Amino acid sequence: MAAVKNSLPRRQFDVVVVGAGGAGMRCSLQLAQAGLSVAVLSKVFPTRSHTVAAQGGVSASLGNMSEDNWYWHMYDTVKGSDWLGDQDAIEFMCREAPNAVYELEHFGMPFDRNPDGTIYQRPFGGHTANFGEKPVQRACAAADRTGHAMLHTLYQRNVAARTQFFVEWMALDLLRNDAGDVLGVTALEMETGEIYVLEAKQTVLATGGAGRIWAASTNAFINTGDGLGMAARAGFPLQDMEFWQFHPTGVAGAGVLITEGVRGEGGILLNKDGERFMERYAPTLKDLAPRDFVSRSMDQEIKEGRGCGDGSYVVLKLDHLGAETIQKRLPSIREIAIKFANVDPAKDPIPVVPTIHYQMGGIPTNIYGQVVSVANGETTPVNGLYAIGECAATSVHGANRLGTNSLLDLIVFGRSAGNHIVESHPERQRSHQSIPESAIDFSLDRVNKLETRTDGEKTQDVGNAIRMAMQHHCGVFRTLDLLNKGVDAIESLAPQVDSLYFKDKSKVFNTARIEALEVTNMIEVARATTKSAANRTESRGAHALNDHPERDDVNWLRHTMWFSEGSRLDYKPVQMKPLTVDSFPPKSRTF
Ligand code: FUM
Repeated sequence: MAAVKNSLPRRQFDVVVVGAGGAGMRCSLQLAQAGLSVAVLSKVFPTRSHTVAAQGGVSASLGNMSEDNWYWHMYDTVKGSDWLGDQDAIEFMCREAPNAVYELEHFGMPFDRNPDGTIYQRPFGGHTANFGEKPVQRACAAADRTGHAMLHTLYQRNVAARTQFFVEWMALDLLRNDAGDVLGVTALEMETGEIYVLEAKQTVLATGGAGRIWAASTNAFINTGDGLGMAARAGFPLQDMEFWQFHPTGVAGAGVLITEGVRGEGGILLNKDGERFMERYAPTLKDLAPRDFVSRSMDQEIKEGRGCGDGSYVVLKLDHLGAETIQKRLPSIREIAIKFANVDPAKDPIPVVPTIHYQMGGIPTNIYGQVVSVANGETTPVNGLYAIGECAATSVHGANRLGTNSLLDLIVFGRSAGNHIVESHPERQRSHQSIPESAIDFSLDRVNKLETRTDGEKTQDVGNAIRMAMQHHCGVFRTLDLLNKGVDAIESLAPQVDSLYFKDKSKVFNTARIEALEVTNMIEVARATTKSAANRTESRGAHALNDHPERDDVNWLRHTMWFSEGSRLDYKPVQMKPLTVDSFPPKSRTF
């Protein structure tokens, strides 16, 4: 049954946070502790958000294992990003990292410990001492369940701070007034099928990534780019969407993540000849080179006929670590390998392939998490809207993210956005602005059309077509021809998304409705990705183009901005100037 505008229930909050992963809950904690009324919406129970799947660690230059400092961390992150990361944001994140981690420790997060009681840290790809000289142990770990430990810690703190959770609610659309300010969201309560208007003085998007637009992915099924779809429909650009990270070690055939922490603990990648091939590609960092490097090397080995088994994968060997270390440091990995690859890694190597893992681009923001609009290369904060975590492009990861910088990004910018909202807006003194009827109409019409359609395209078919098109056209190595075909394939699916149809119209926990709504978000992310990628005629970070194998700083040291309307592209400069230190100028990227 179609929803009727005048009877839509309304609720008012100081802040609505969309998403209850690490970023959303770090932000909501800051807000609730300051006494603001905060609603956190989540499609799943908060501790099931995708942050729970983060395994290996959270980076911070604590120096618990050997000498380390934030400036080395900053250098590694800039170099890891292939110089597309904004250096002001990177400096901010790396400087804040130790405090952000100690704060979690004091919240009760159960980190692994060294004999002297300090937090245990392991090496991770691309993290080095002394500007690339040798690997450094910077990843603060809770066994191989770091995201799990973080999420439970933040949830408990939020409950204590009286954050209001709206569990199994899906945000639908941003509500804007004529001035472009954001005044809240429409949202669907899954249990009842009711649509609500949630009015907010500030809205925070913390919806995570969209890795489920690919067929094979390490991402949870909930990662359908909902915040990106909402932002794109509301007229905001999506930044740097051509940059997607393939994690080197997804279980072959299953896609499930095997943490880079395995290589951090001493695991090695082998080809069918038993050769540790990373020694050839990255003589200094070897298996601990950044992910774009390792994924391409693996792909190369497989393409050149040195894959294992049927030739389609390489293997990750860790039996030499010993059963005791595996059980202590990597217990979940052992379980995953037994369940999904049918091998006990204490005895046999795990078959692995590069698998889509992380979206470096997203909704453009500044270091306070404020979403920025962009015109002629100039950025202006949007009133009432923030974005944090994987759905945001702050941009600290640029063209390639270093492992463990994602959990760091969540807590640093979640906290920063929370503080900015508390400090710069006297929330409790300002009343809610009235929401134009047209904004609510737009959202309701969209949902009602879907609801009342009696014939059309099946959600599953269109969703699968998007996933297969992305899988085929946007791989580890790309060509312009393939990318342009990808643009056509995805654009040809857009009209099908406009005529999605589901037969079951029941209201109570109707997952067919949720899936259809998710596909309307997925298509925006897929359009942004293919179009942005087909226009970047260089290779940088995770965007590796066979026809243009070199990085081109003269023409392409700039961020892509994609707008949904007309699939229009614009560009803005990379922020090369850090906050307080000297800039790291671009140089060639070897490991
Ligand atoms: O390999 C991992 O544990 C993943 C970590 C990350 O993506 O940062």
